Amino acid sequence: MESVSHENRKFEPHPDFAKDAYIGSPEAYRELYEKSIADPEAFWAEAAEELDWFKKWDKVLDESEAPFFKWFPGAKTNLCYNCVDRHLKGPNRNKAALIWEGEPGDTRVLTYQDVHREVCKFANGLKQIGVKKGDRVAIYLPMIPELTLAVLACARIGAVHTVIFAGFSAESIRDRINDCGATCVITADGGWRRERVLSLKNTVDEALEGVDSVSNVVVVKRAHGDPFPCHYKEGRDHWYHRLVQDQPIDCPCEEMDAEDMLFLLYTSGTTGKPKGIIHTTAGYMLYTYLTTKYIFDLKPDDVFWCTADVGWITGHSYIVYGPMQNAATQIMYEGAPNTPDEGRFWEIVEKYRATIFYTAPTAIRAFMKWGDKWLEKHDLSSLRLLGTVGEPINPEAWIWYHKQVGAERCPIVDTWWQTETGGHMLTPIPGATATKPGCATVPFFGIEPAILTDEGEEVDAGILAIKKPWPGILRGIYGDPERFKDTYWCKWDGKYYFPGDGARRDKDGYIWILGRVDDVVNVSGHRIGTAELESVFVEHKDVAESAVVGVPHEIKGQGLIAFVTVIQGREHDDHLRKELVEMIDKSIGKFARPERILFSSDLPKTRSGKIMRRLLRDIAEGKELGNTTTLADPSVVEELQRQYEEA
Ligand code: WTA
Repeated sequence: MESVSHENRKFEPHPDFAKDAYIGSPEAYRELYEKSIADPEAFWAEAAEELDWFKKWDKVLDESEAPFFKWFPGAKTNLCYNCVDRHLKGPNRNKAALIWEGEPGDTRVLTYQDVHREVCKFANGLKQIGVKKGDRVAIYLPMIPELTLAVLACARIGAVHTVIFAGFSAESIRDRINDCGATCVITADGGWRRERVLSLKNTVDEALEGVDSVSNVVVVKRAHGDPFPCHYKEGRDHWYHRLVQDQPIDCPCEEMDAEDMLFLLYTSGTTGKPKGIIHTTAGYMLYTYLTTKYIFDLKPDDVFWCTADVGWITGHSYIVYGPMQNAATQIMYEGAPNTPDEGRFWEIVEKYRATIFYTAPTAIRAFMKWGDKWLEKHDLSSLRLLGTVGEPINPEAWIWYHKQVGAERCPIVDTWWQTETGGHMLTPIPGATATKPGCATVPFFGIEPAILTDEGEEVDAGILAIKKPWPGILRGIYGDPERFKDTYWCKWDGKYYFPGDGARRDKDGYIWILGRVDDVVNVSGHRIGTAELESVFVEHKDVAESAVVGVPHEIKGQGLIAFVTVIQGREHDDHLRKELVEMIDKSIGKFARPERILFSSDLPKTRSGKIMRRLLRDIAEGKELGNTTTLADPSVVEELQRQYEEA
C-alpha cells in the first residue's frame, strides 16, 4: 500500500453540509465519543430509548461469560416492529419505503404501510407451512422487494434467516443449509443480471439433492418461467403469490429476547468452510440504527441508495435493518451497473433524486474506467453524501469519486467494518471529520481501536484490534463456539477482538486500513478464503497440491492467482485449467474464479515443509525475490517465475 502512505491531502466537511448535520463539528464528535467511551452503558442505554421495546432491559451489558457478551439482557423487542410497525403511527405511514427498479426497467414503490401488509402476509404464509420461531430459513433471491420482505417476515416471526448471495453455486447453498439445518428455502424462478435470467430455482433444486432438513421451498415468480421453466415439486414447493394471496394482513410480532438469534450470515475465514456468523436481536438492532443515523446523517427527506446486495452484510445492515429503522426512503436496484449501458446508476440517481449513495471501491474504479461521459449525461445535483465500503479505496479512486460524483461538495464516508462487526466501526462522521483519500479515519461511538504487535504492544503500524465489546458484535459461529474463541479472541488473550486487518495510525491519530493480515482475499469486495479454493483444486484427480494468493488488481482491488502442482506424469494444459475453473464455479460461484492458474512441479517450501506464500505473492506481483536460501529447493521458484512471465 505504497500510495496511501504518502497521502496527505485533507478535506474539511463542506460548511453547507456541516451546518445541518446531526454532528456538525469536530468538538461535537469528540464530546459524544468521549462520553461513549467513559460510560458506554449510559451511552447505549440513552440511544436505545429512541427505539421501541416490548419490555426494557435489566442491564445494558453482561460480560460475565465473555467473549459471549450479552447486550440488553431481559429486554424484549422485535426488529421487524422497529423497521415497520412503529412507522405506522405517524406521518411515515404513507412514505415510500422502497423504490425498486428491475433491470429490465420495471418499477415498484412500496410505502411503509405496503411493507407492513406484505410482510405480514408473507409471515402468515411462512407460519402456515410450519415455520416457527428459531427455525432457520435460507433465502436465495435476486434483488427484488421480496428479498427485503422475506428478511423482515422472518424477523417478525422469530425465524433465523440466512441469506445466501444469488451468485453462490448449488454446492455452496447445500453446505450452508446443511451447516445450519435450515427447514425452509425462499427463492425465485429467476432474476435479471446483464439481460439474462439467472435460474435460481434450478440451482436450489440441485442444492437440495441429498439435503434432508428442508421440507418447504417458497418460489417467487420473477422471471415468469422464461426462459427457464422451473420444476415444481408437489408437497415441497409453494408459489409465493399463491401462498400469500389469502393470508390475513396482520401478523403479530414475536416478542424476542434481546439475545435471541436474528440471523446467520456465512463468511469466509482462513481455514475450511465458511462460518455462520451469528447476530442477535437487540444489540444488532441498536447498532445498525445508530450507525445509519449518524454516518449517513439520514434525514426524513433523504433518498438513500446502498448499491450492495442484501446477500452480504452491507445489505443486511444498510438496506434492510438500518435504513428501515430510520424510516428511510430508499432505492433498490436489481441488476448490473452497466445494463443497458454504463450510465445506469447515474440514470437512477437522477430519476429518483438520490441524496445518499453508498457503494464499493471496485464499482468506483469500474466507473472511472468507463469514463466521465456516463456521468455528464445525468444530473447528480441531488446527491449530498457519498460512502464506500468493503475494501480499501485507493486515493485516486477516492479523488475521482469526490470530484466527479460528489462535485467536491459531498462528504465521503469510507466505512471500515465486517460481517462480524454488524455495522460501521471506523469511519468519518460527515459534518465533523475532515477526510483523507483512502482513510477510514476515526472510530464510531463506543469503539476503542488499538494497533498492536503480535505480542500486544501498541505501535503505529501493525494489527488492528478492538478493545471493548459493542452492541453489534457477532455473538458466535454457528455450531462452533471454540472456533469463535480461537478466531477472534485468542490472539491477545481475550483482551481484544481480532478483526484480521492491518492498520496504521498517522500523526493526526487517523487510522488507515492496510488490508488483511490473514489468508482472506478481498475480490471486488467479496471475501474469499484462499483455503476454500485450494481445497477445491485438490479434489481434482490430477492435482497434488495448490496454493492461492491475492494480488493487487486494477478494478477488483485484489485478484486471485492459483499455483497448482500436478501429480507427476499427469497432463497440465488448458484443458485441466478449464476443468479447474469449472470446479470453482460449481463449488463456490463464478465470482471466485482466479485470474490465472499456474502449474508447476512443486511449490516453494521451507525445509519444514511450509508453503512460502509471501514468495508466491512476490512472483505473482513480478517483484524482485528476496532471500530464497531458506527454501528446500530454490529451483522451484525459478521455474514458477519463468512460467509467470511466459504466461
Ligand atoms: C475489508 C464488509 C478497508 C476489511 C462490510 C474487512 C475494508 C473485510 C473496508 C470485511 C474499508 C471492509 N476499508 N477495508 N472501508 N471495509 N474492508 O465481512 O479487510 O464482507 O476485514 O464486510 O473487508 O469484509 P465483509
